[in-house]
Amino acid sequence: MTTRQQFLRAAALTAAAPLLACGSRDTPDAYDQAAAATWRLAEAPVGDAGAIRRELVRCATLAPSSHNTQCWKFRIEERAITLLPDLSRRCPAVDPDDHHLFVSLGCAAENLAQAARAFGLRAEQRSAGRDGVALSLEPAPAVATPLYLALPQRQCTRGEYDGQPLRSDELRLLEQAGSGEGVRVILITERAAMEQVLALVAAGNTAQLQDKAFVEELKAWIRFGRDEAAHAGDGLFTGASGNPTAPRWLGSRLFDLFFKAGSENDKYSKQIRSSAGIAVFVSQVDDAAHWVEAGRCFERFALQATALGIRNAMINQPVEVAALRPQLASQLGVAAGRPDLVVRFGRGPRMPSSLRRPVQAVLV
Ligand SMILES: Cc1cc2nc3c(=O)[nH]c(=O)nc-3n(C[C@H](O)[C@H](O)[C@H](O)COP(=O)(O)O)c2cc1C
Repeated sequence: MTTRQQFLRAAALTAAAPLLACGSRDTPDAYDQAAAATWRLAEAPVGDAGAIRRELVRCATLAPSSHNTQCWKFRIEERAITLLPDLSRRCPAVDPDDHHLFVSLGCAAENLAQAARAFGLRAEQRSAGRDGVALSLEPAPAVATPLYLALPQRQCTRGEYDGQPLRSDELRLLEQAGSGEGVRVILITERAAMEQVLALVAAGNTAQLQDKAFVEELKAWIRFGRDEAAHAGDGLFTGASGNPTAPRWLGSRLFDLFFKAGSENDKYSKQIRSSAGIAVFVSQVDDAAHWVEAGRCFERFALQATALGIRNAMINQPVEVAALRPQLASQLGVAAGRPDLVVRFGRGPRMPSSLRRPVQAVLV
């Protein structure tokens, strides 16, 4: 940032200070109440199959989704739940081929499967593709796995971590959790290799912020204020990334003024250099079934990390900007397939939680 930009930023933030908010309040507001109601551990309602299935759907909706669009719908049947893509929540600028949309469905399917086990059901994947993900439900012994118990703690933690490496047994558990059918995870912990990924993140971020359609789409999914976020129940709440909150009219203007490639790239440098490593998920075949599987693998990885007290955050610019994907693949020595997701991990403080829409809003 130039001195003039720093001066302008300081002047604008000083003028806006009475309207900006950071940090905690004494009494819980609508956002706090919604977050507390969202991030509670599921309890299987006794004896009511319909209530159990709705609770499974609630657990599924705790999954991550690109821009927190929650691009899913759920069809409940007696012995099955199908996750359908909600194409009205597509993000054509950042995700023109709907890759992230189907990865998000995979994350939700994994959450549902983990919760089903805790409720004495086995959720078996019958099919996955552009039509959605079909899961059958069969009775099975009830097991509350560490991954299930981690469901209400998991988050995409966009802060700086403590810079400490992970133990090799922790890395092994993450690798196991993140591998699946036709999808593998590559863990990068050497500093030189992490710097190469950082260079691609910065190149991708710069390209995206020069793209008007990308910026407009992102802005439409940002929730600048606590009330705005609580009302919507979706989207990217600025407070969850550690940024100040403000009424939309003001937040939107500050976004236009200060959301620039230079300062964002500085932030990514610090965040990646504070991380213990970077995980890249790669699918063997570039189709919707494998994108769903990549989502399931990522979600197990994220839940396993959470169970171990390890944070993670996506840094997907090198896979979102299509021109950078071959460079990432060649840096990793990946000859075939598609690099799906790039994720940094390490230990660090928790950030405020994101929100979700109610179950009623996602049922067909
Ligand atoms: C397919 C996919 C792509 C994502 N890409 C990014 C990304 O590039 N950068 C980022 O900060 N978060 C990314 N996210 C994280 C979402 O923004 C996050 O899951 C959502 O805001 C909800 O927050 P939570 O995961 O903390 O509950 C991605 C999530 C998914 C599932």
